[in-house]
Amino acid sequence: VTRDDRPLAGLRFVLVGPGRVGESLACWAVACGARCEVVAGRPGSPRTAPLAERLGARASSAADLDPVAVDFAFLMVPEAELADVARRAAGRLSGVALHGSGALGASVLAPLAAAGCTIGTFHPLRAFPVALPDLARARGTFFALDGDAPARSLGRRLATAFGGEAGVVPEAARTAYHLAATLAGGGVTTVLAAAWEVARRAGVPAAALRGYGELARGALEAALAAADPAEAITGPAARGETETIERQLAALEAEPAARDLVVALARVGLERRTALGAPTAAQRALAERLSRPELLDRSRVRVLASKPRP
Ligand SMILES: NC(=O)c1ccc[n+]([C@@H]2O[C@H](COP(=O)([O-])OP(=O)(O)OC[C@H]3O[C@@H](n4cnc5c(N)ncnc54)[C@H](OP(=O)(O)O)[C@@H]3O)[C@@H](O)[C@H]2O)c1
Repeated sequence: VTRDDRPLAGLRFVLVGPGRVGESLACWAVACGARCEVVAGRPGSPRTAPLAERLGARASSAADLDPVAVDFAFLMVPEAELADVARRAAGRLSGVALHGSGALGASVLAPLAAAGCTIGTFHPLRAFPVALPDLARARGTFFALDGDAPARSLGRRLATAFGGEAGVVPEAARTAYHLAATLAGGGVTTVLAAAWEVARRAGVPAAALRGYGELARGALEAALAAADPAEAITGPAARGETETIERQLAALEAEPAARDLVVALARVGLERRTALGAPTAAQRALAERLSRPELLDRSRVRVLASKPRP
C-alpha cells in the first residue's frame, strides 16, 4: 500500500452547489487528495450528475440530502440561497460548513451551527467567469475566512494546499472587503470598457484599442510593484492639469456617464496622490475646480440612455 502524501489526503467532503466556484473548489480539493462523497445540486440541475461522476462522488438533490459523515462541506450556492440551503442541510451534514460568499460572514450558516457543525467562510478573491477546475488556477488566490476556530484552521489548510493565502475578514468588514473586490475586478474592467468606448466613438483606429490594453497592463504592473498603488497613478489629474481636465470634460458633454466617471476618477486620483505628500499649487487648483457641486449634481441624467452598438 502506498501512502498518499497529498496535503488533503484523508479528508472527506460534500459539495452543495455545483456551479462555477463549487466545481472549481471541489476539483482543487480532489487534486490535493481529499475525497468528494456527494455533489448536491438544485433538483433537476444538469450540472450535478456529470460533476459527481467526474469526481467519483454520489449525485444528490440538495433539498433532500441523506445524512453523511464528512470532515467538511462546501456550500457554493448564490448568496440569496445560502440561508435556505443551510436550513435544509441542518442535521444532514457534519464537520465544518464553509460558504464562498465574499459579502456575508459565517452567521448566515447559523442553522448548521445549531445542528452541531462548525461554520465559516472560504471566499476565493478571484473572478470565475467559468469554472476553473485546474489546480494551477488556484495559485496565489487569497481566501477570506470568518467563523469558528476549527473553520478558520481548515480554511488555512485548504488555502495552503491550493497554493494560495488565507486571512480572516470578520463579518463587520465584509461589505467593505467585497466592495474593494468589486472595484479591483469589475471596476478596473469597467474603466477599460469606458476608455475603449470613448476612443471608438472618436474614430481612434481599432489597433489602438489593443494598445490601451497594453497601457493598462503596464500601469497595473507598476501599481502592483509600488508600496502603495497610489504612487503609480499618472495622468493629468495626478499632475493637477486643470485645463486638460476642462477640455476632456467639454469633449464628454454628450456622454454624461463617462463624464461623471472622469470627474470621480480625477477626484479620487488627486486625493490618493496628495495623501502621499503635500499638494502642489496646480493640484490644489484642480482640487478646487473638482469641488464644485455642479460637476456631479446631475440627478436627471438618464442611465442606460445610450443606444446599443449596431
Ligand atoms: N463567480 C465568481 O466570480 C465568484 C467569485 C467568488 C465567490 N463567488 C461566490 O460563490 C458562490 C457561488 O457563485 P457561482 O458564481 O459559483 O454561482 P453559479 O455558477 O451560479 O453556481 C451556483 C450553483 O448553485 C446551485 N444552486 C442554486 N440554488 C441552489 C439550491 N437551493 N440548492 C443547491 N444548489 C443550488 C446552482 O444550480 P444550477 O446549476 O441549477 O443553476 C449552481 O450550480 C456565491 O456565493 C458567489 O458570491 C463567486
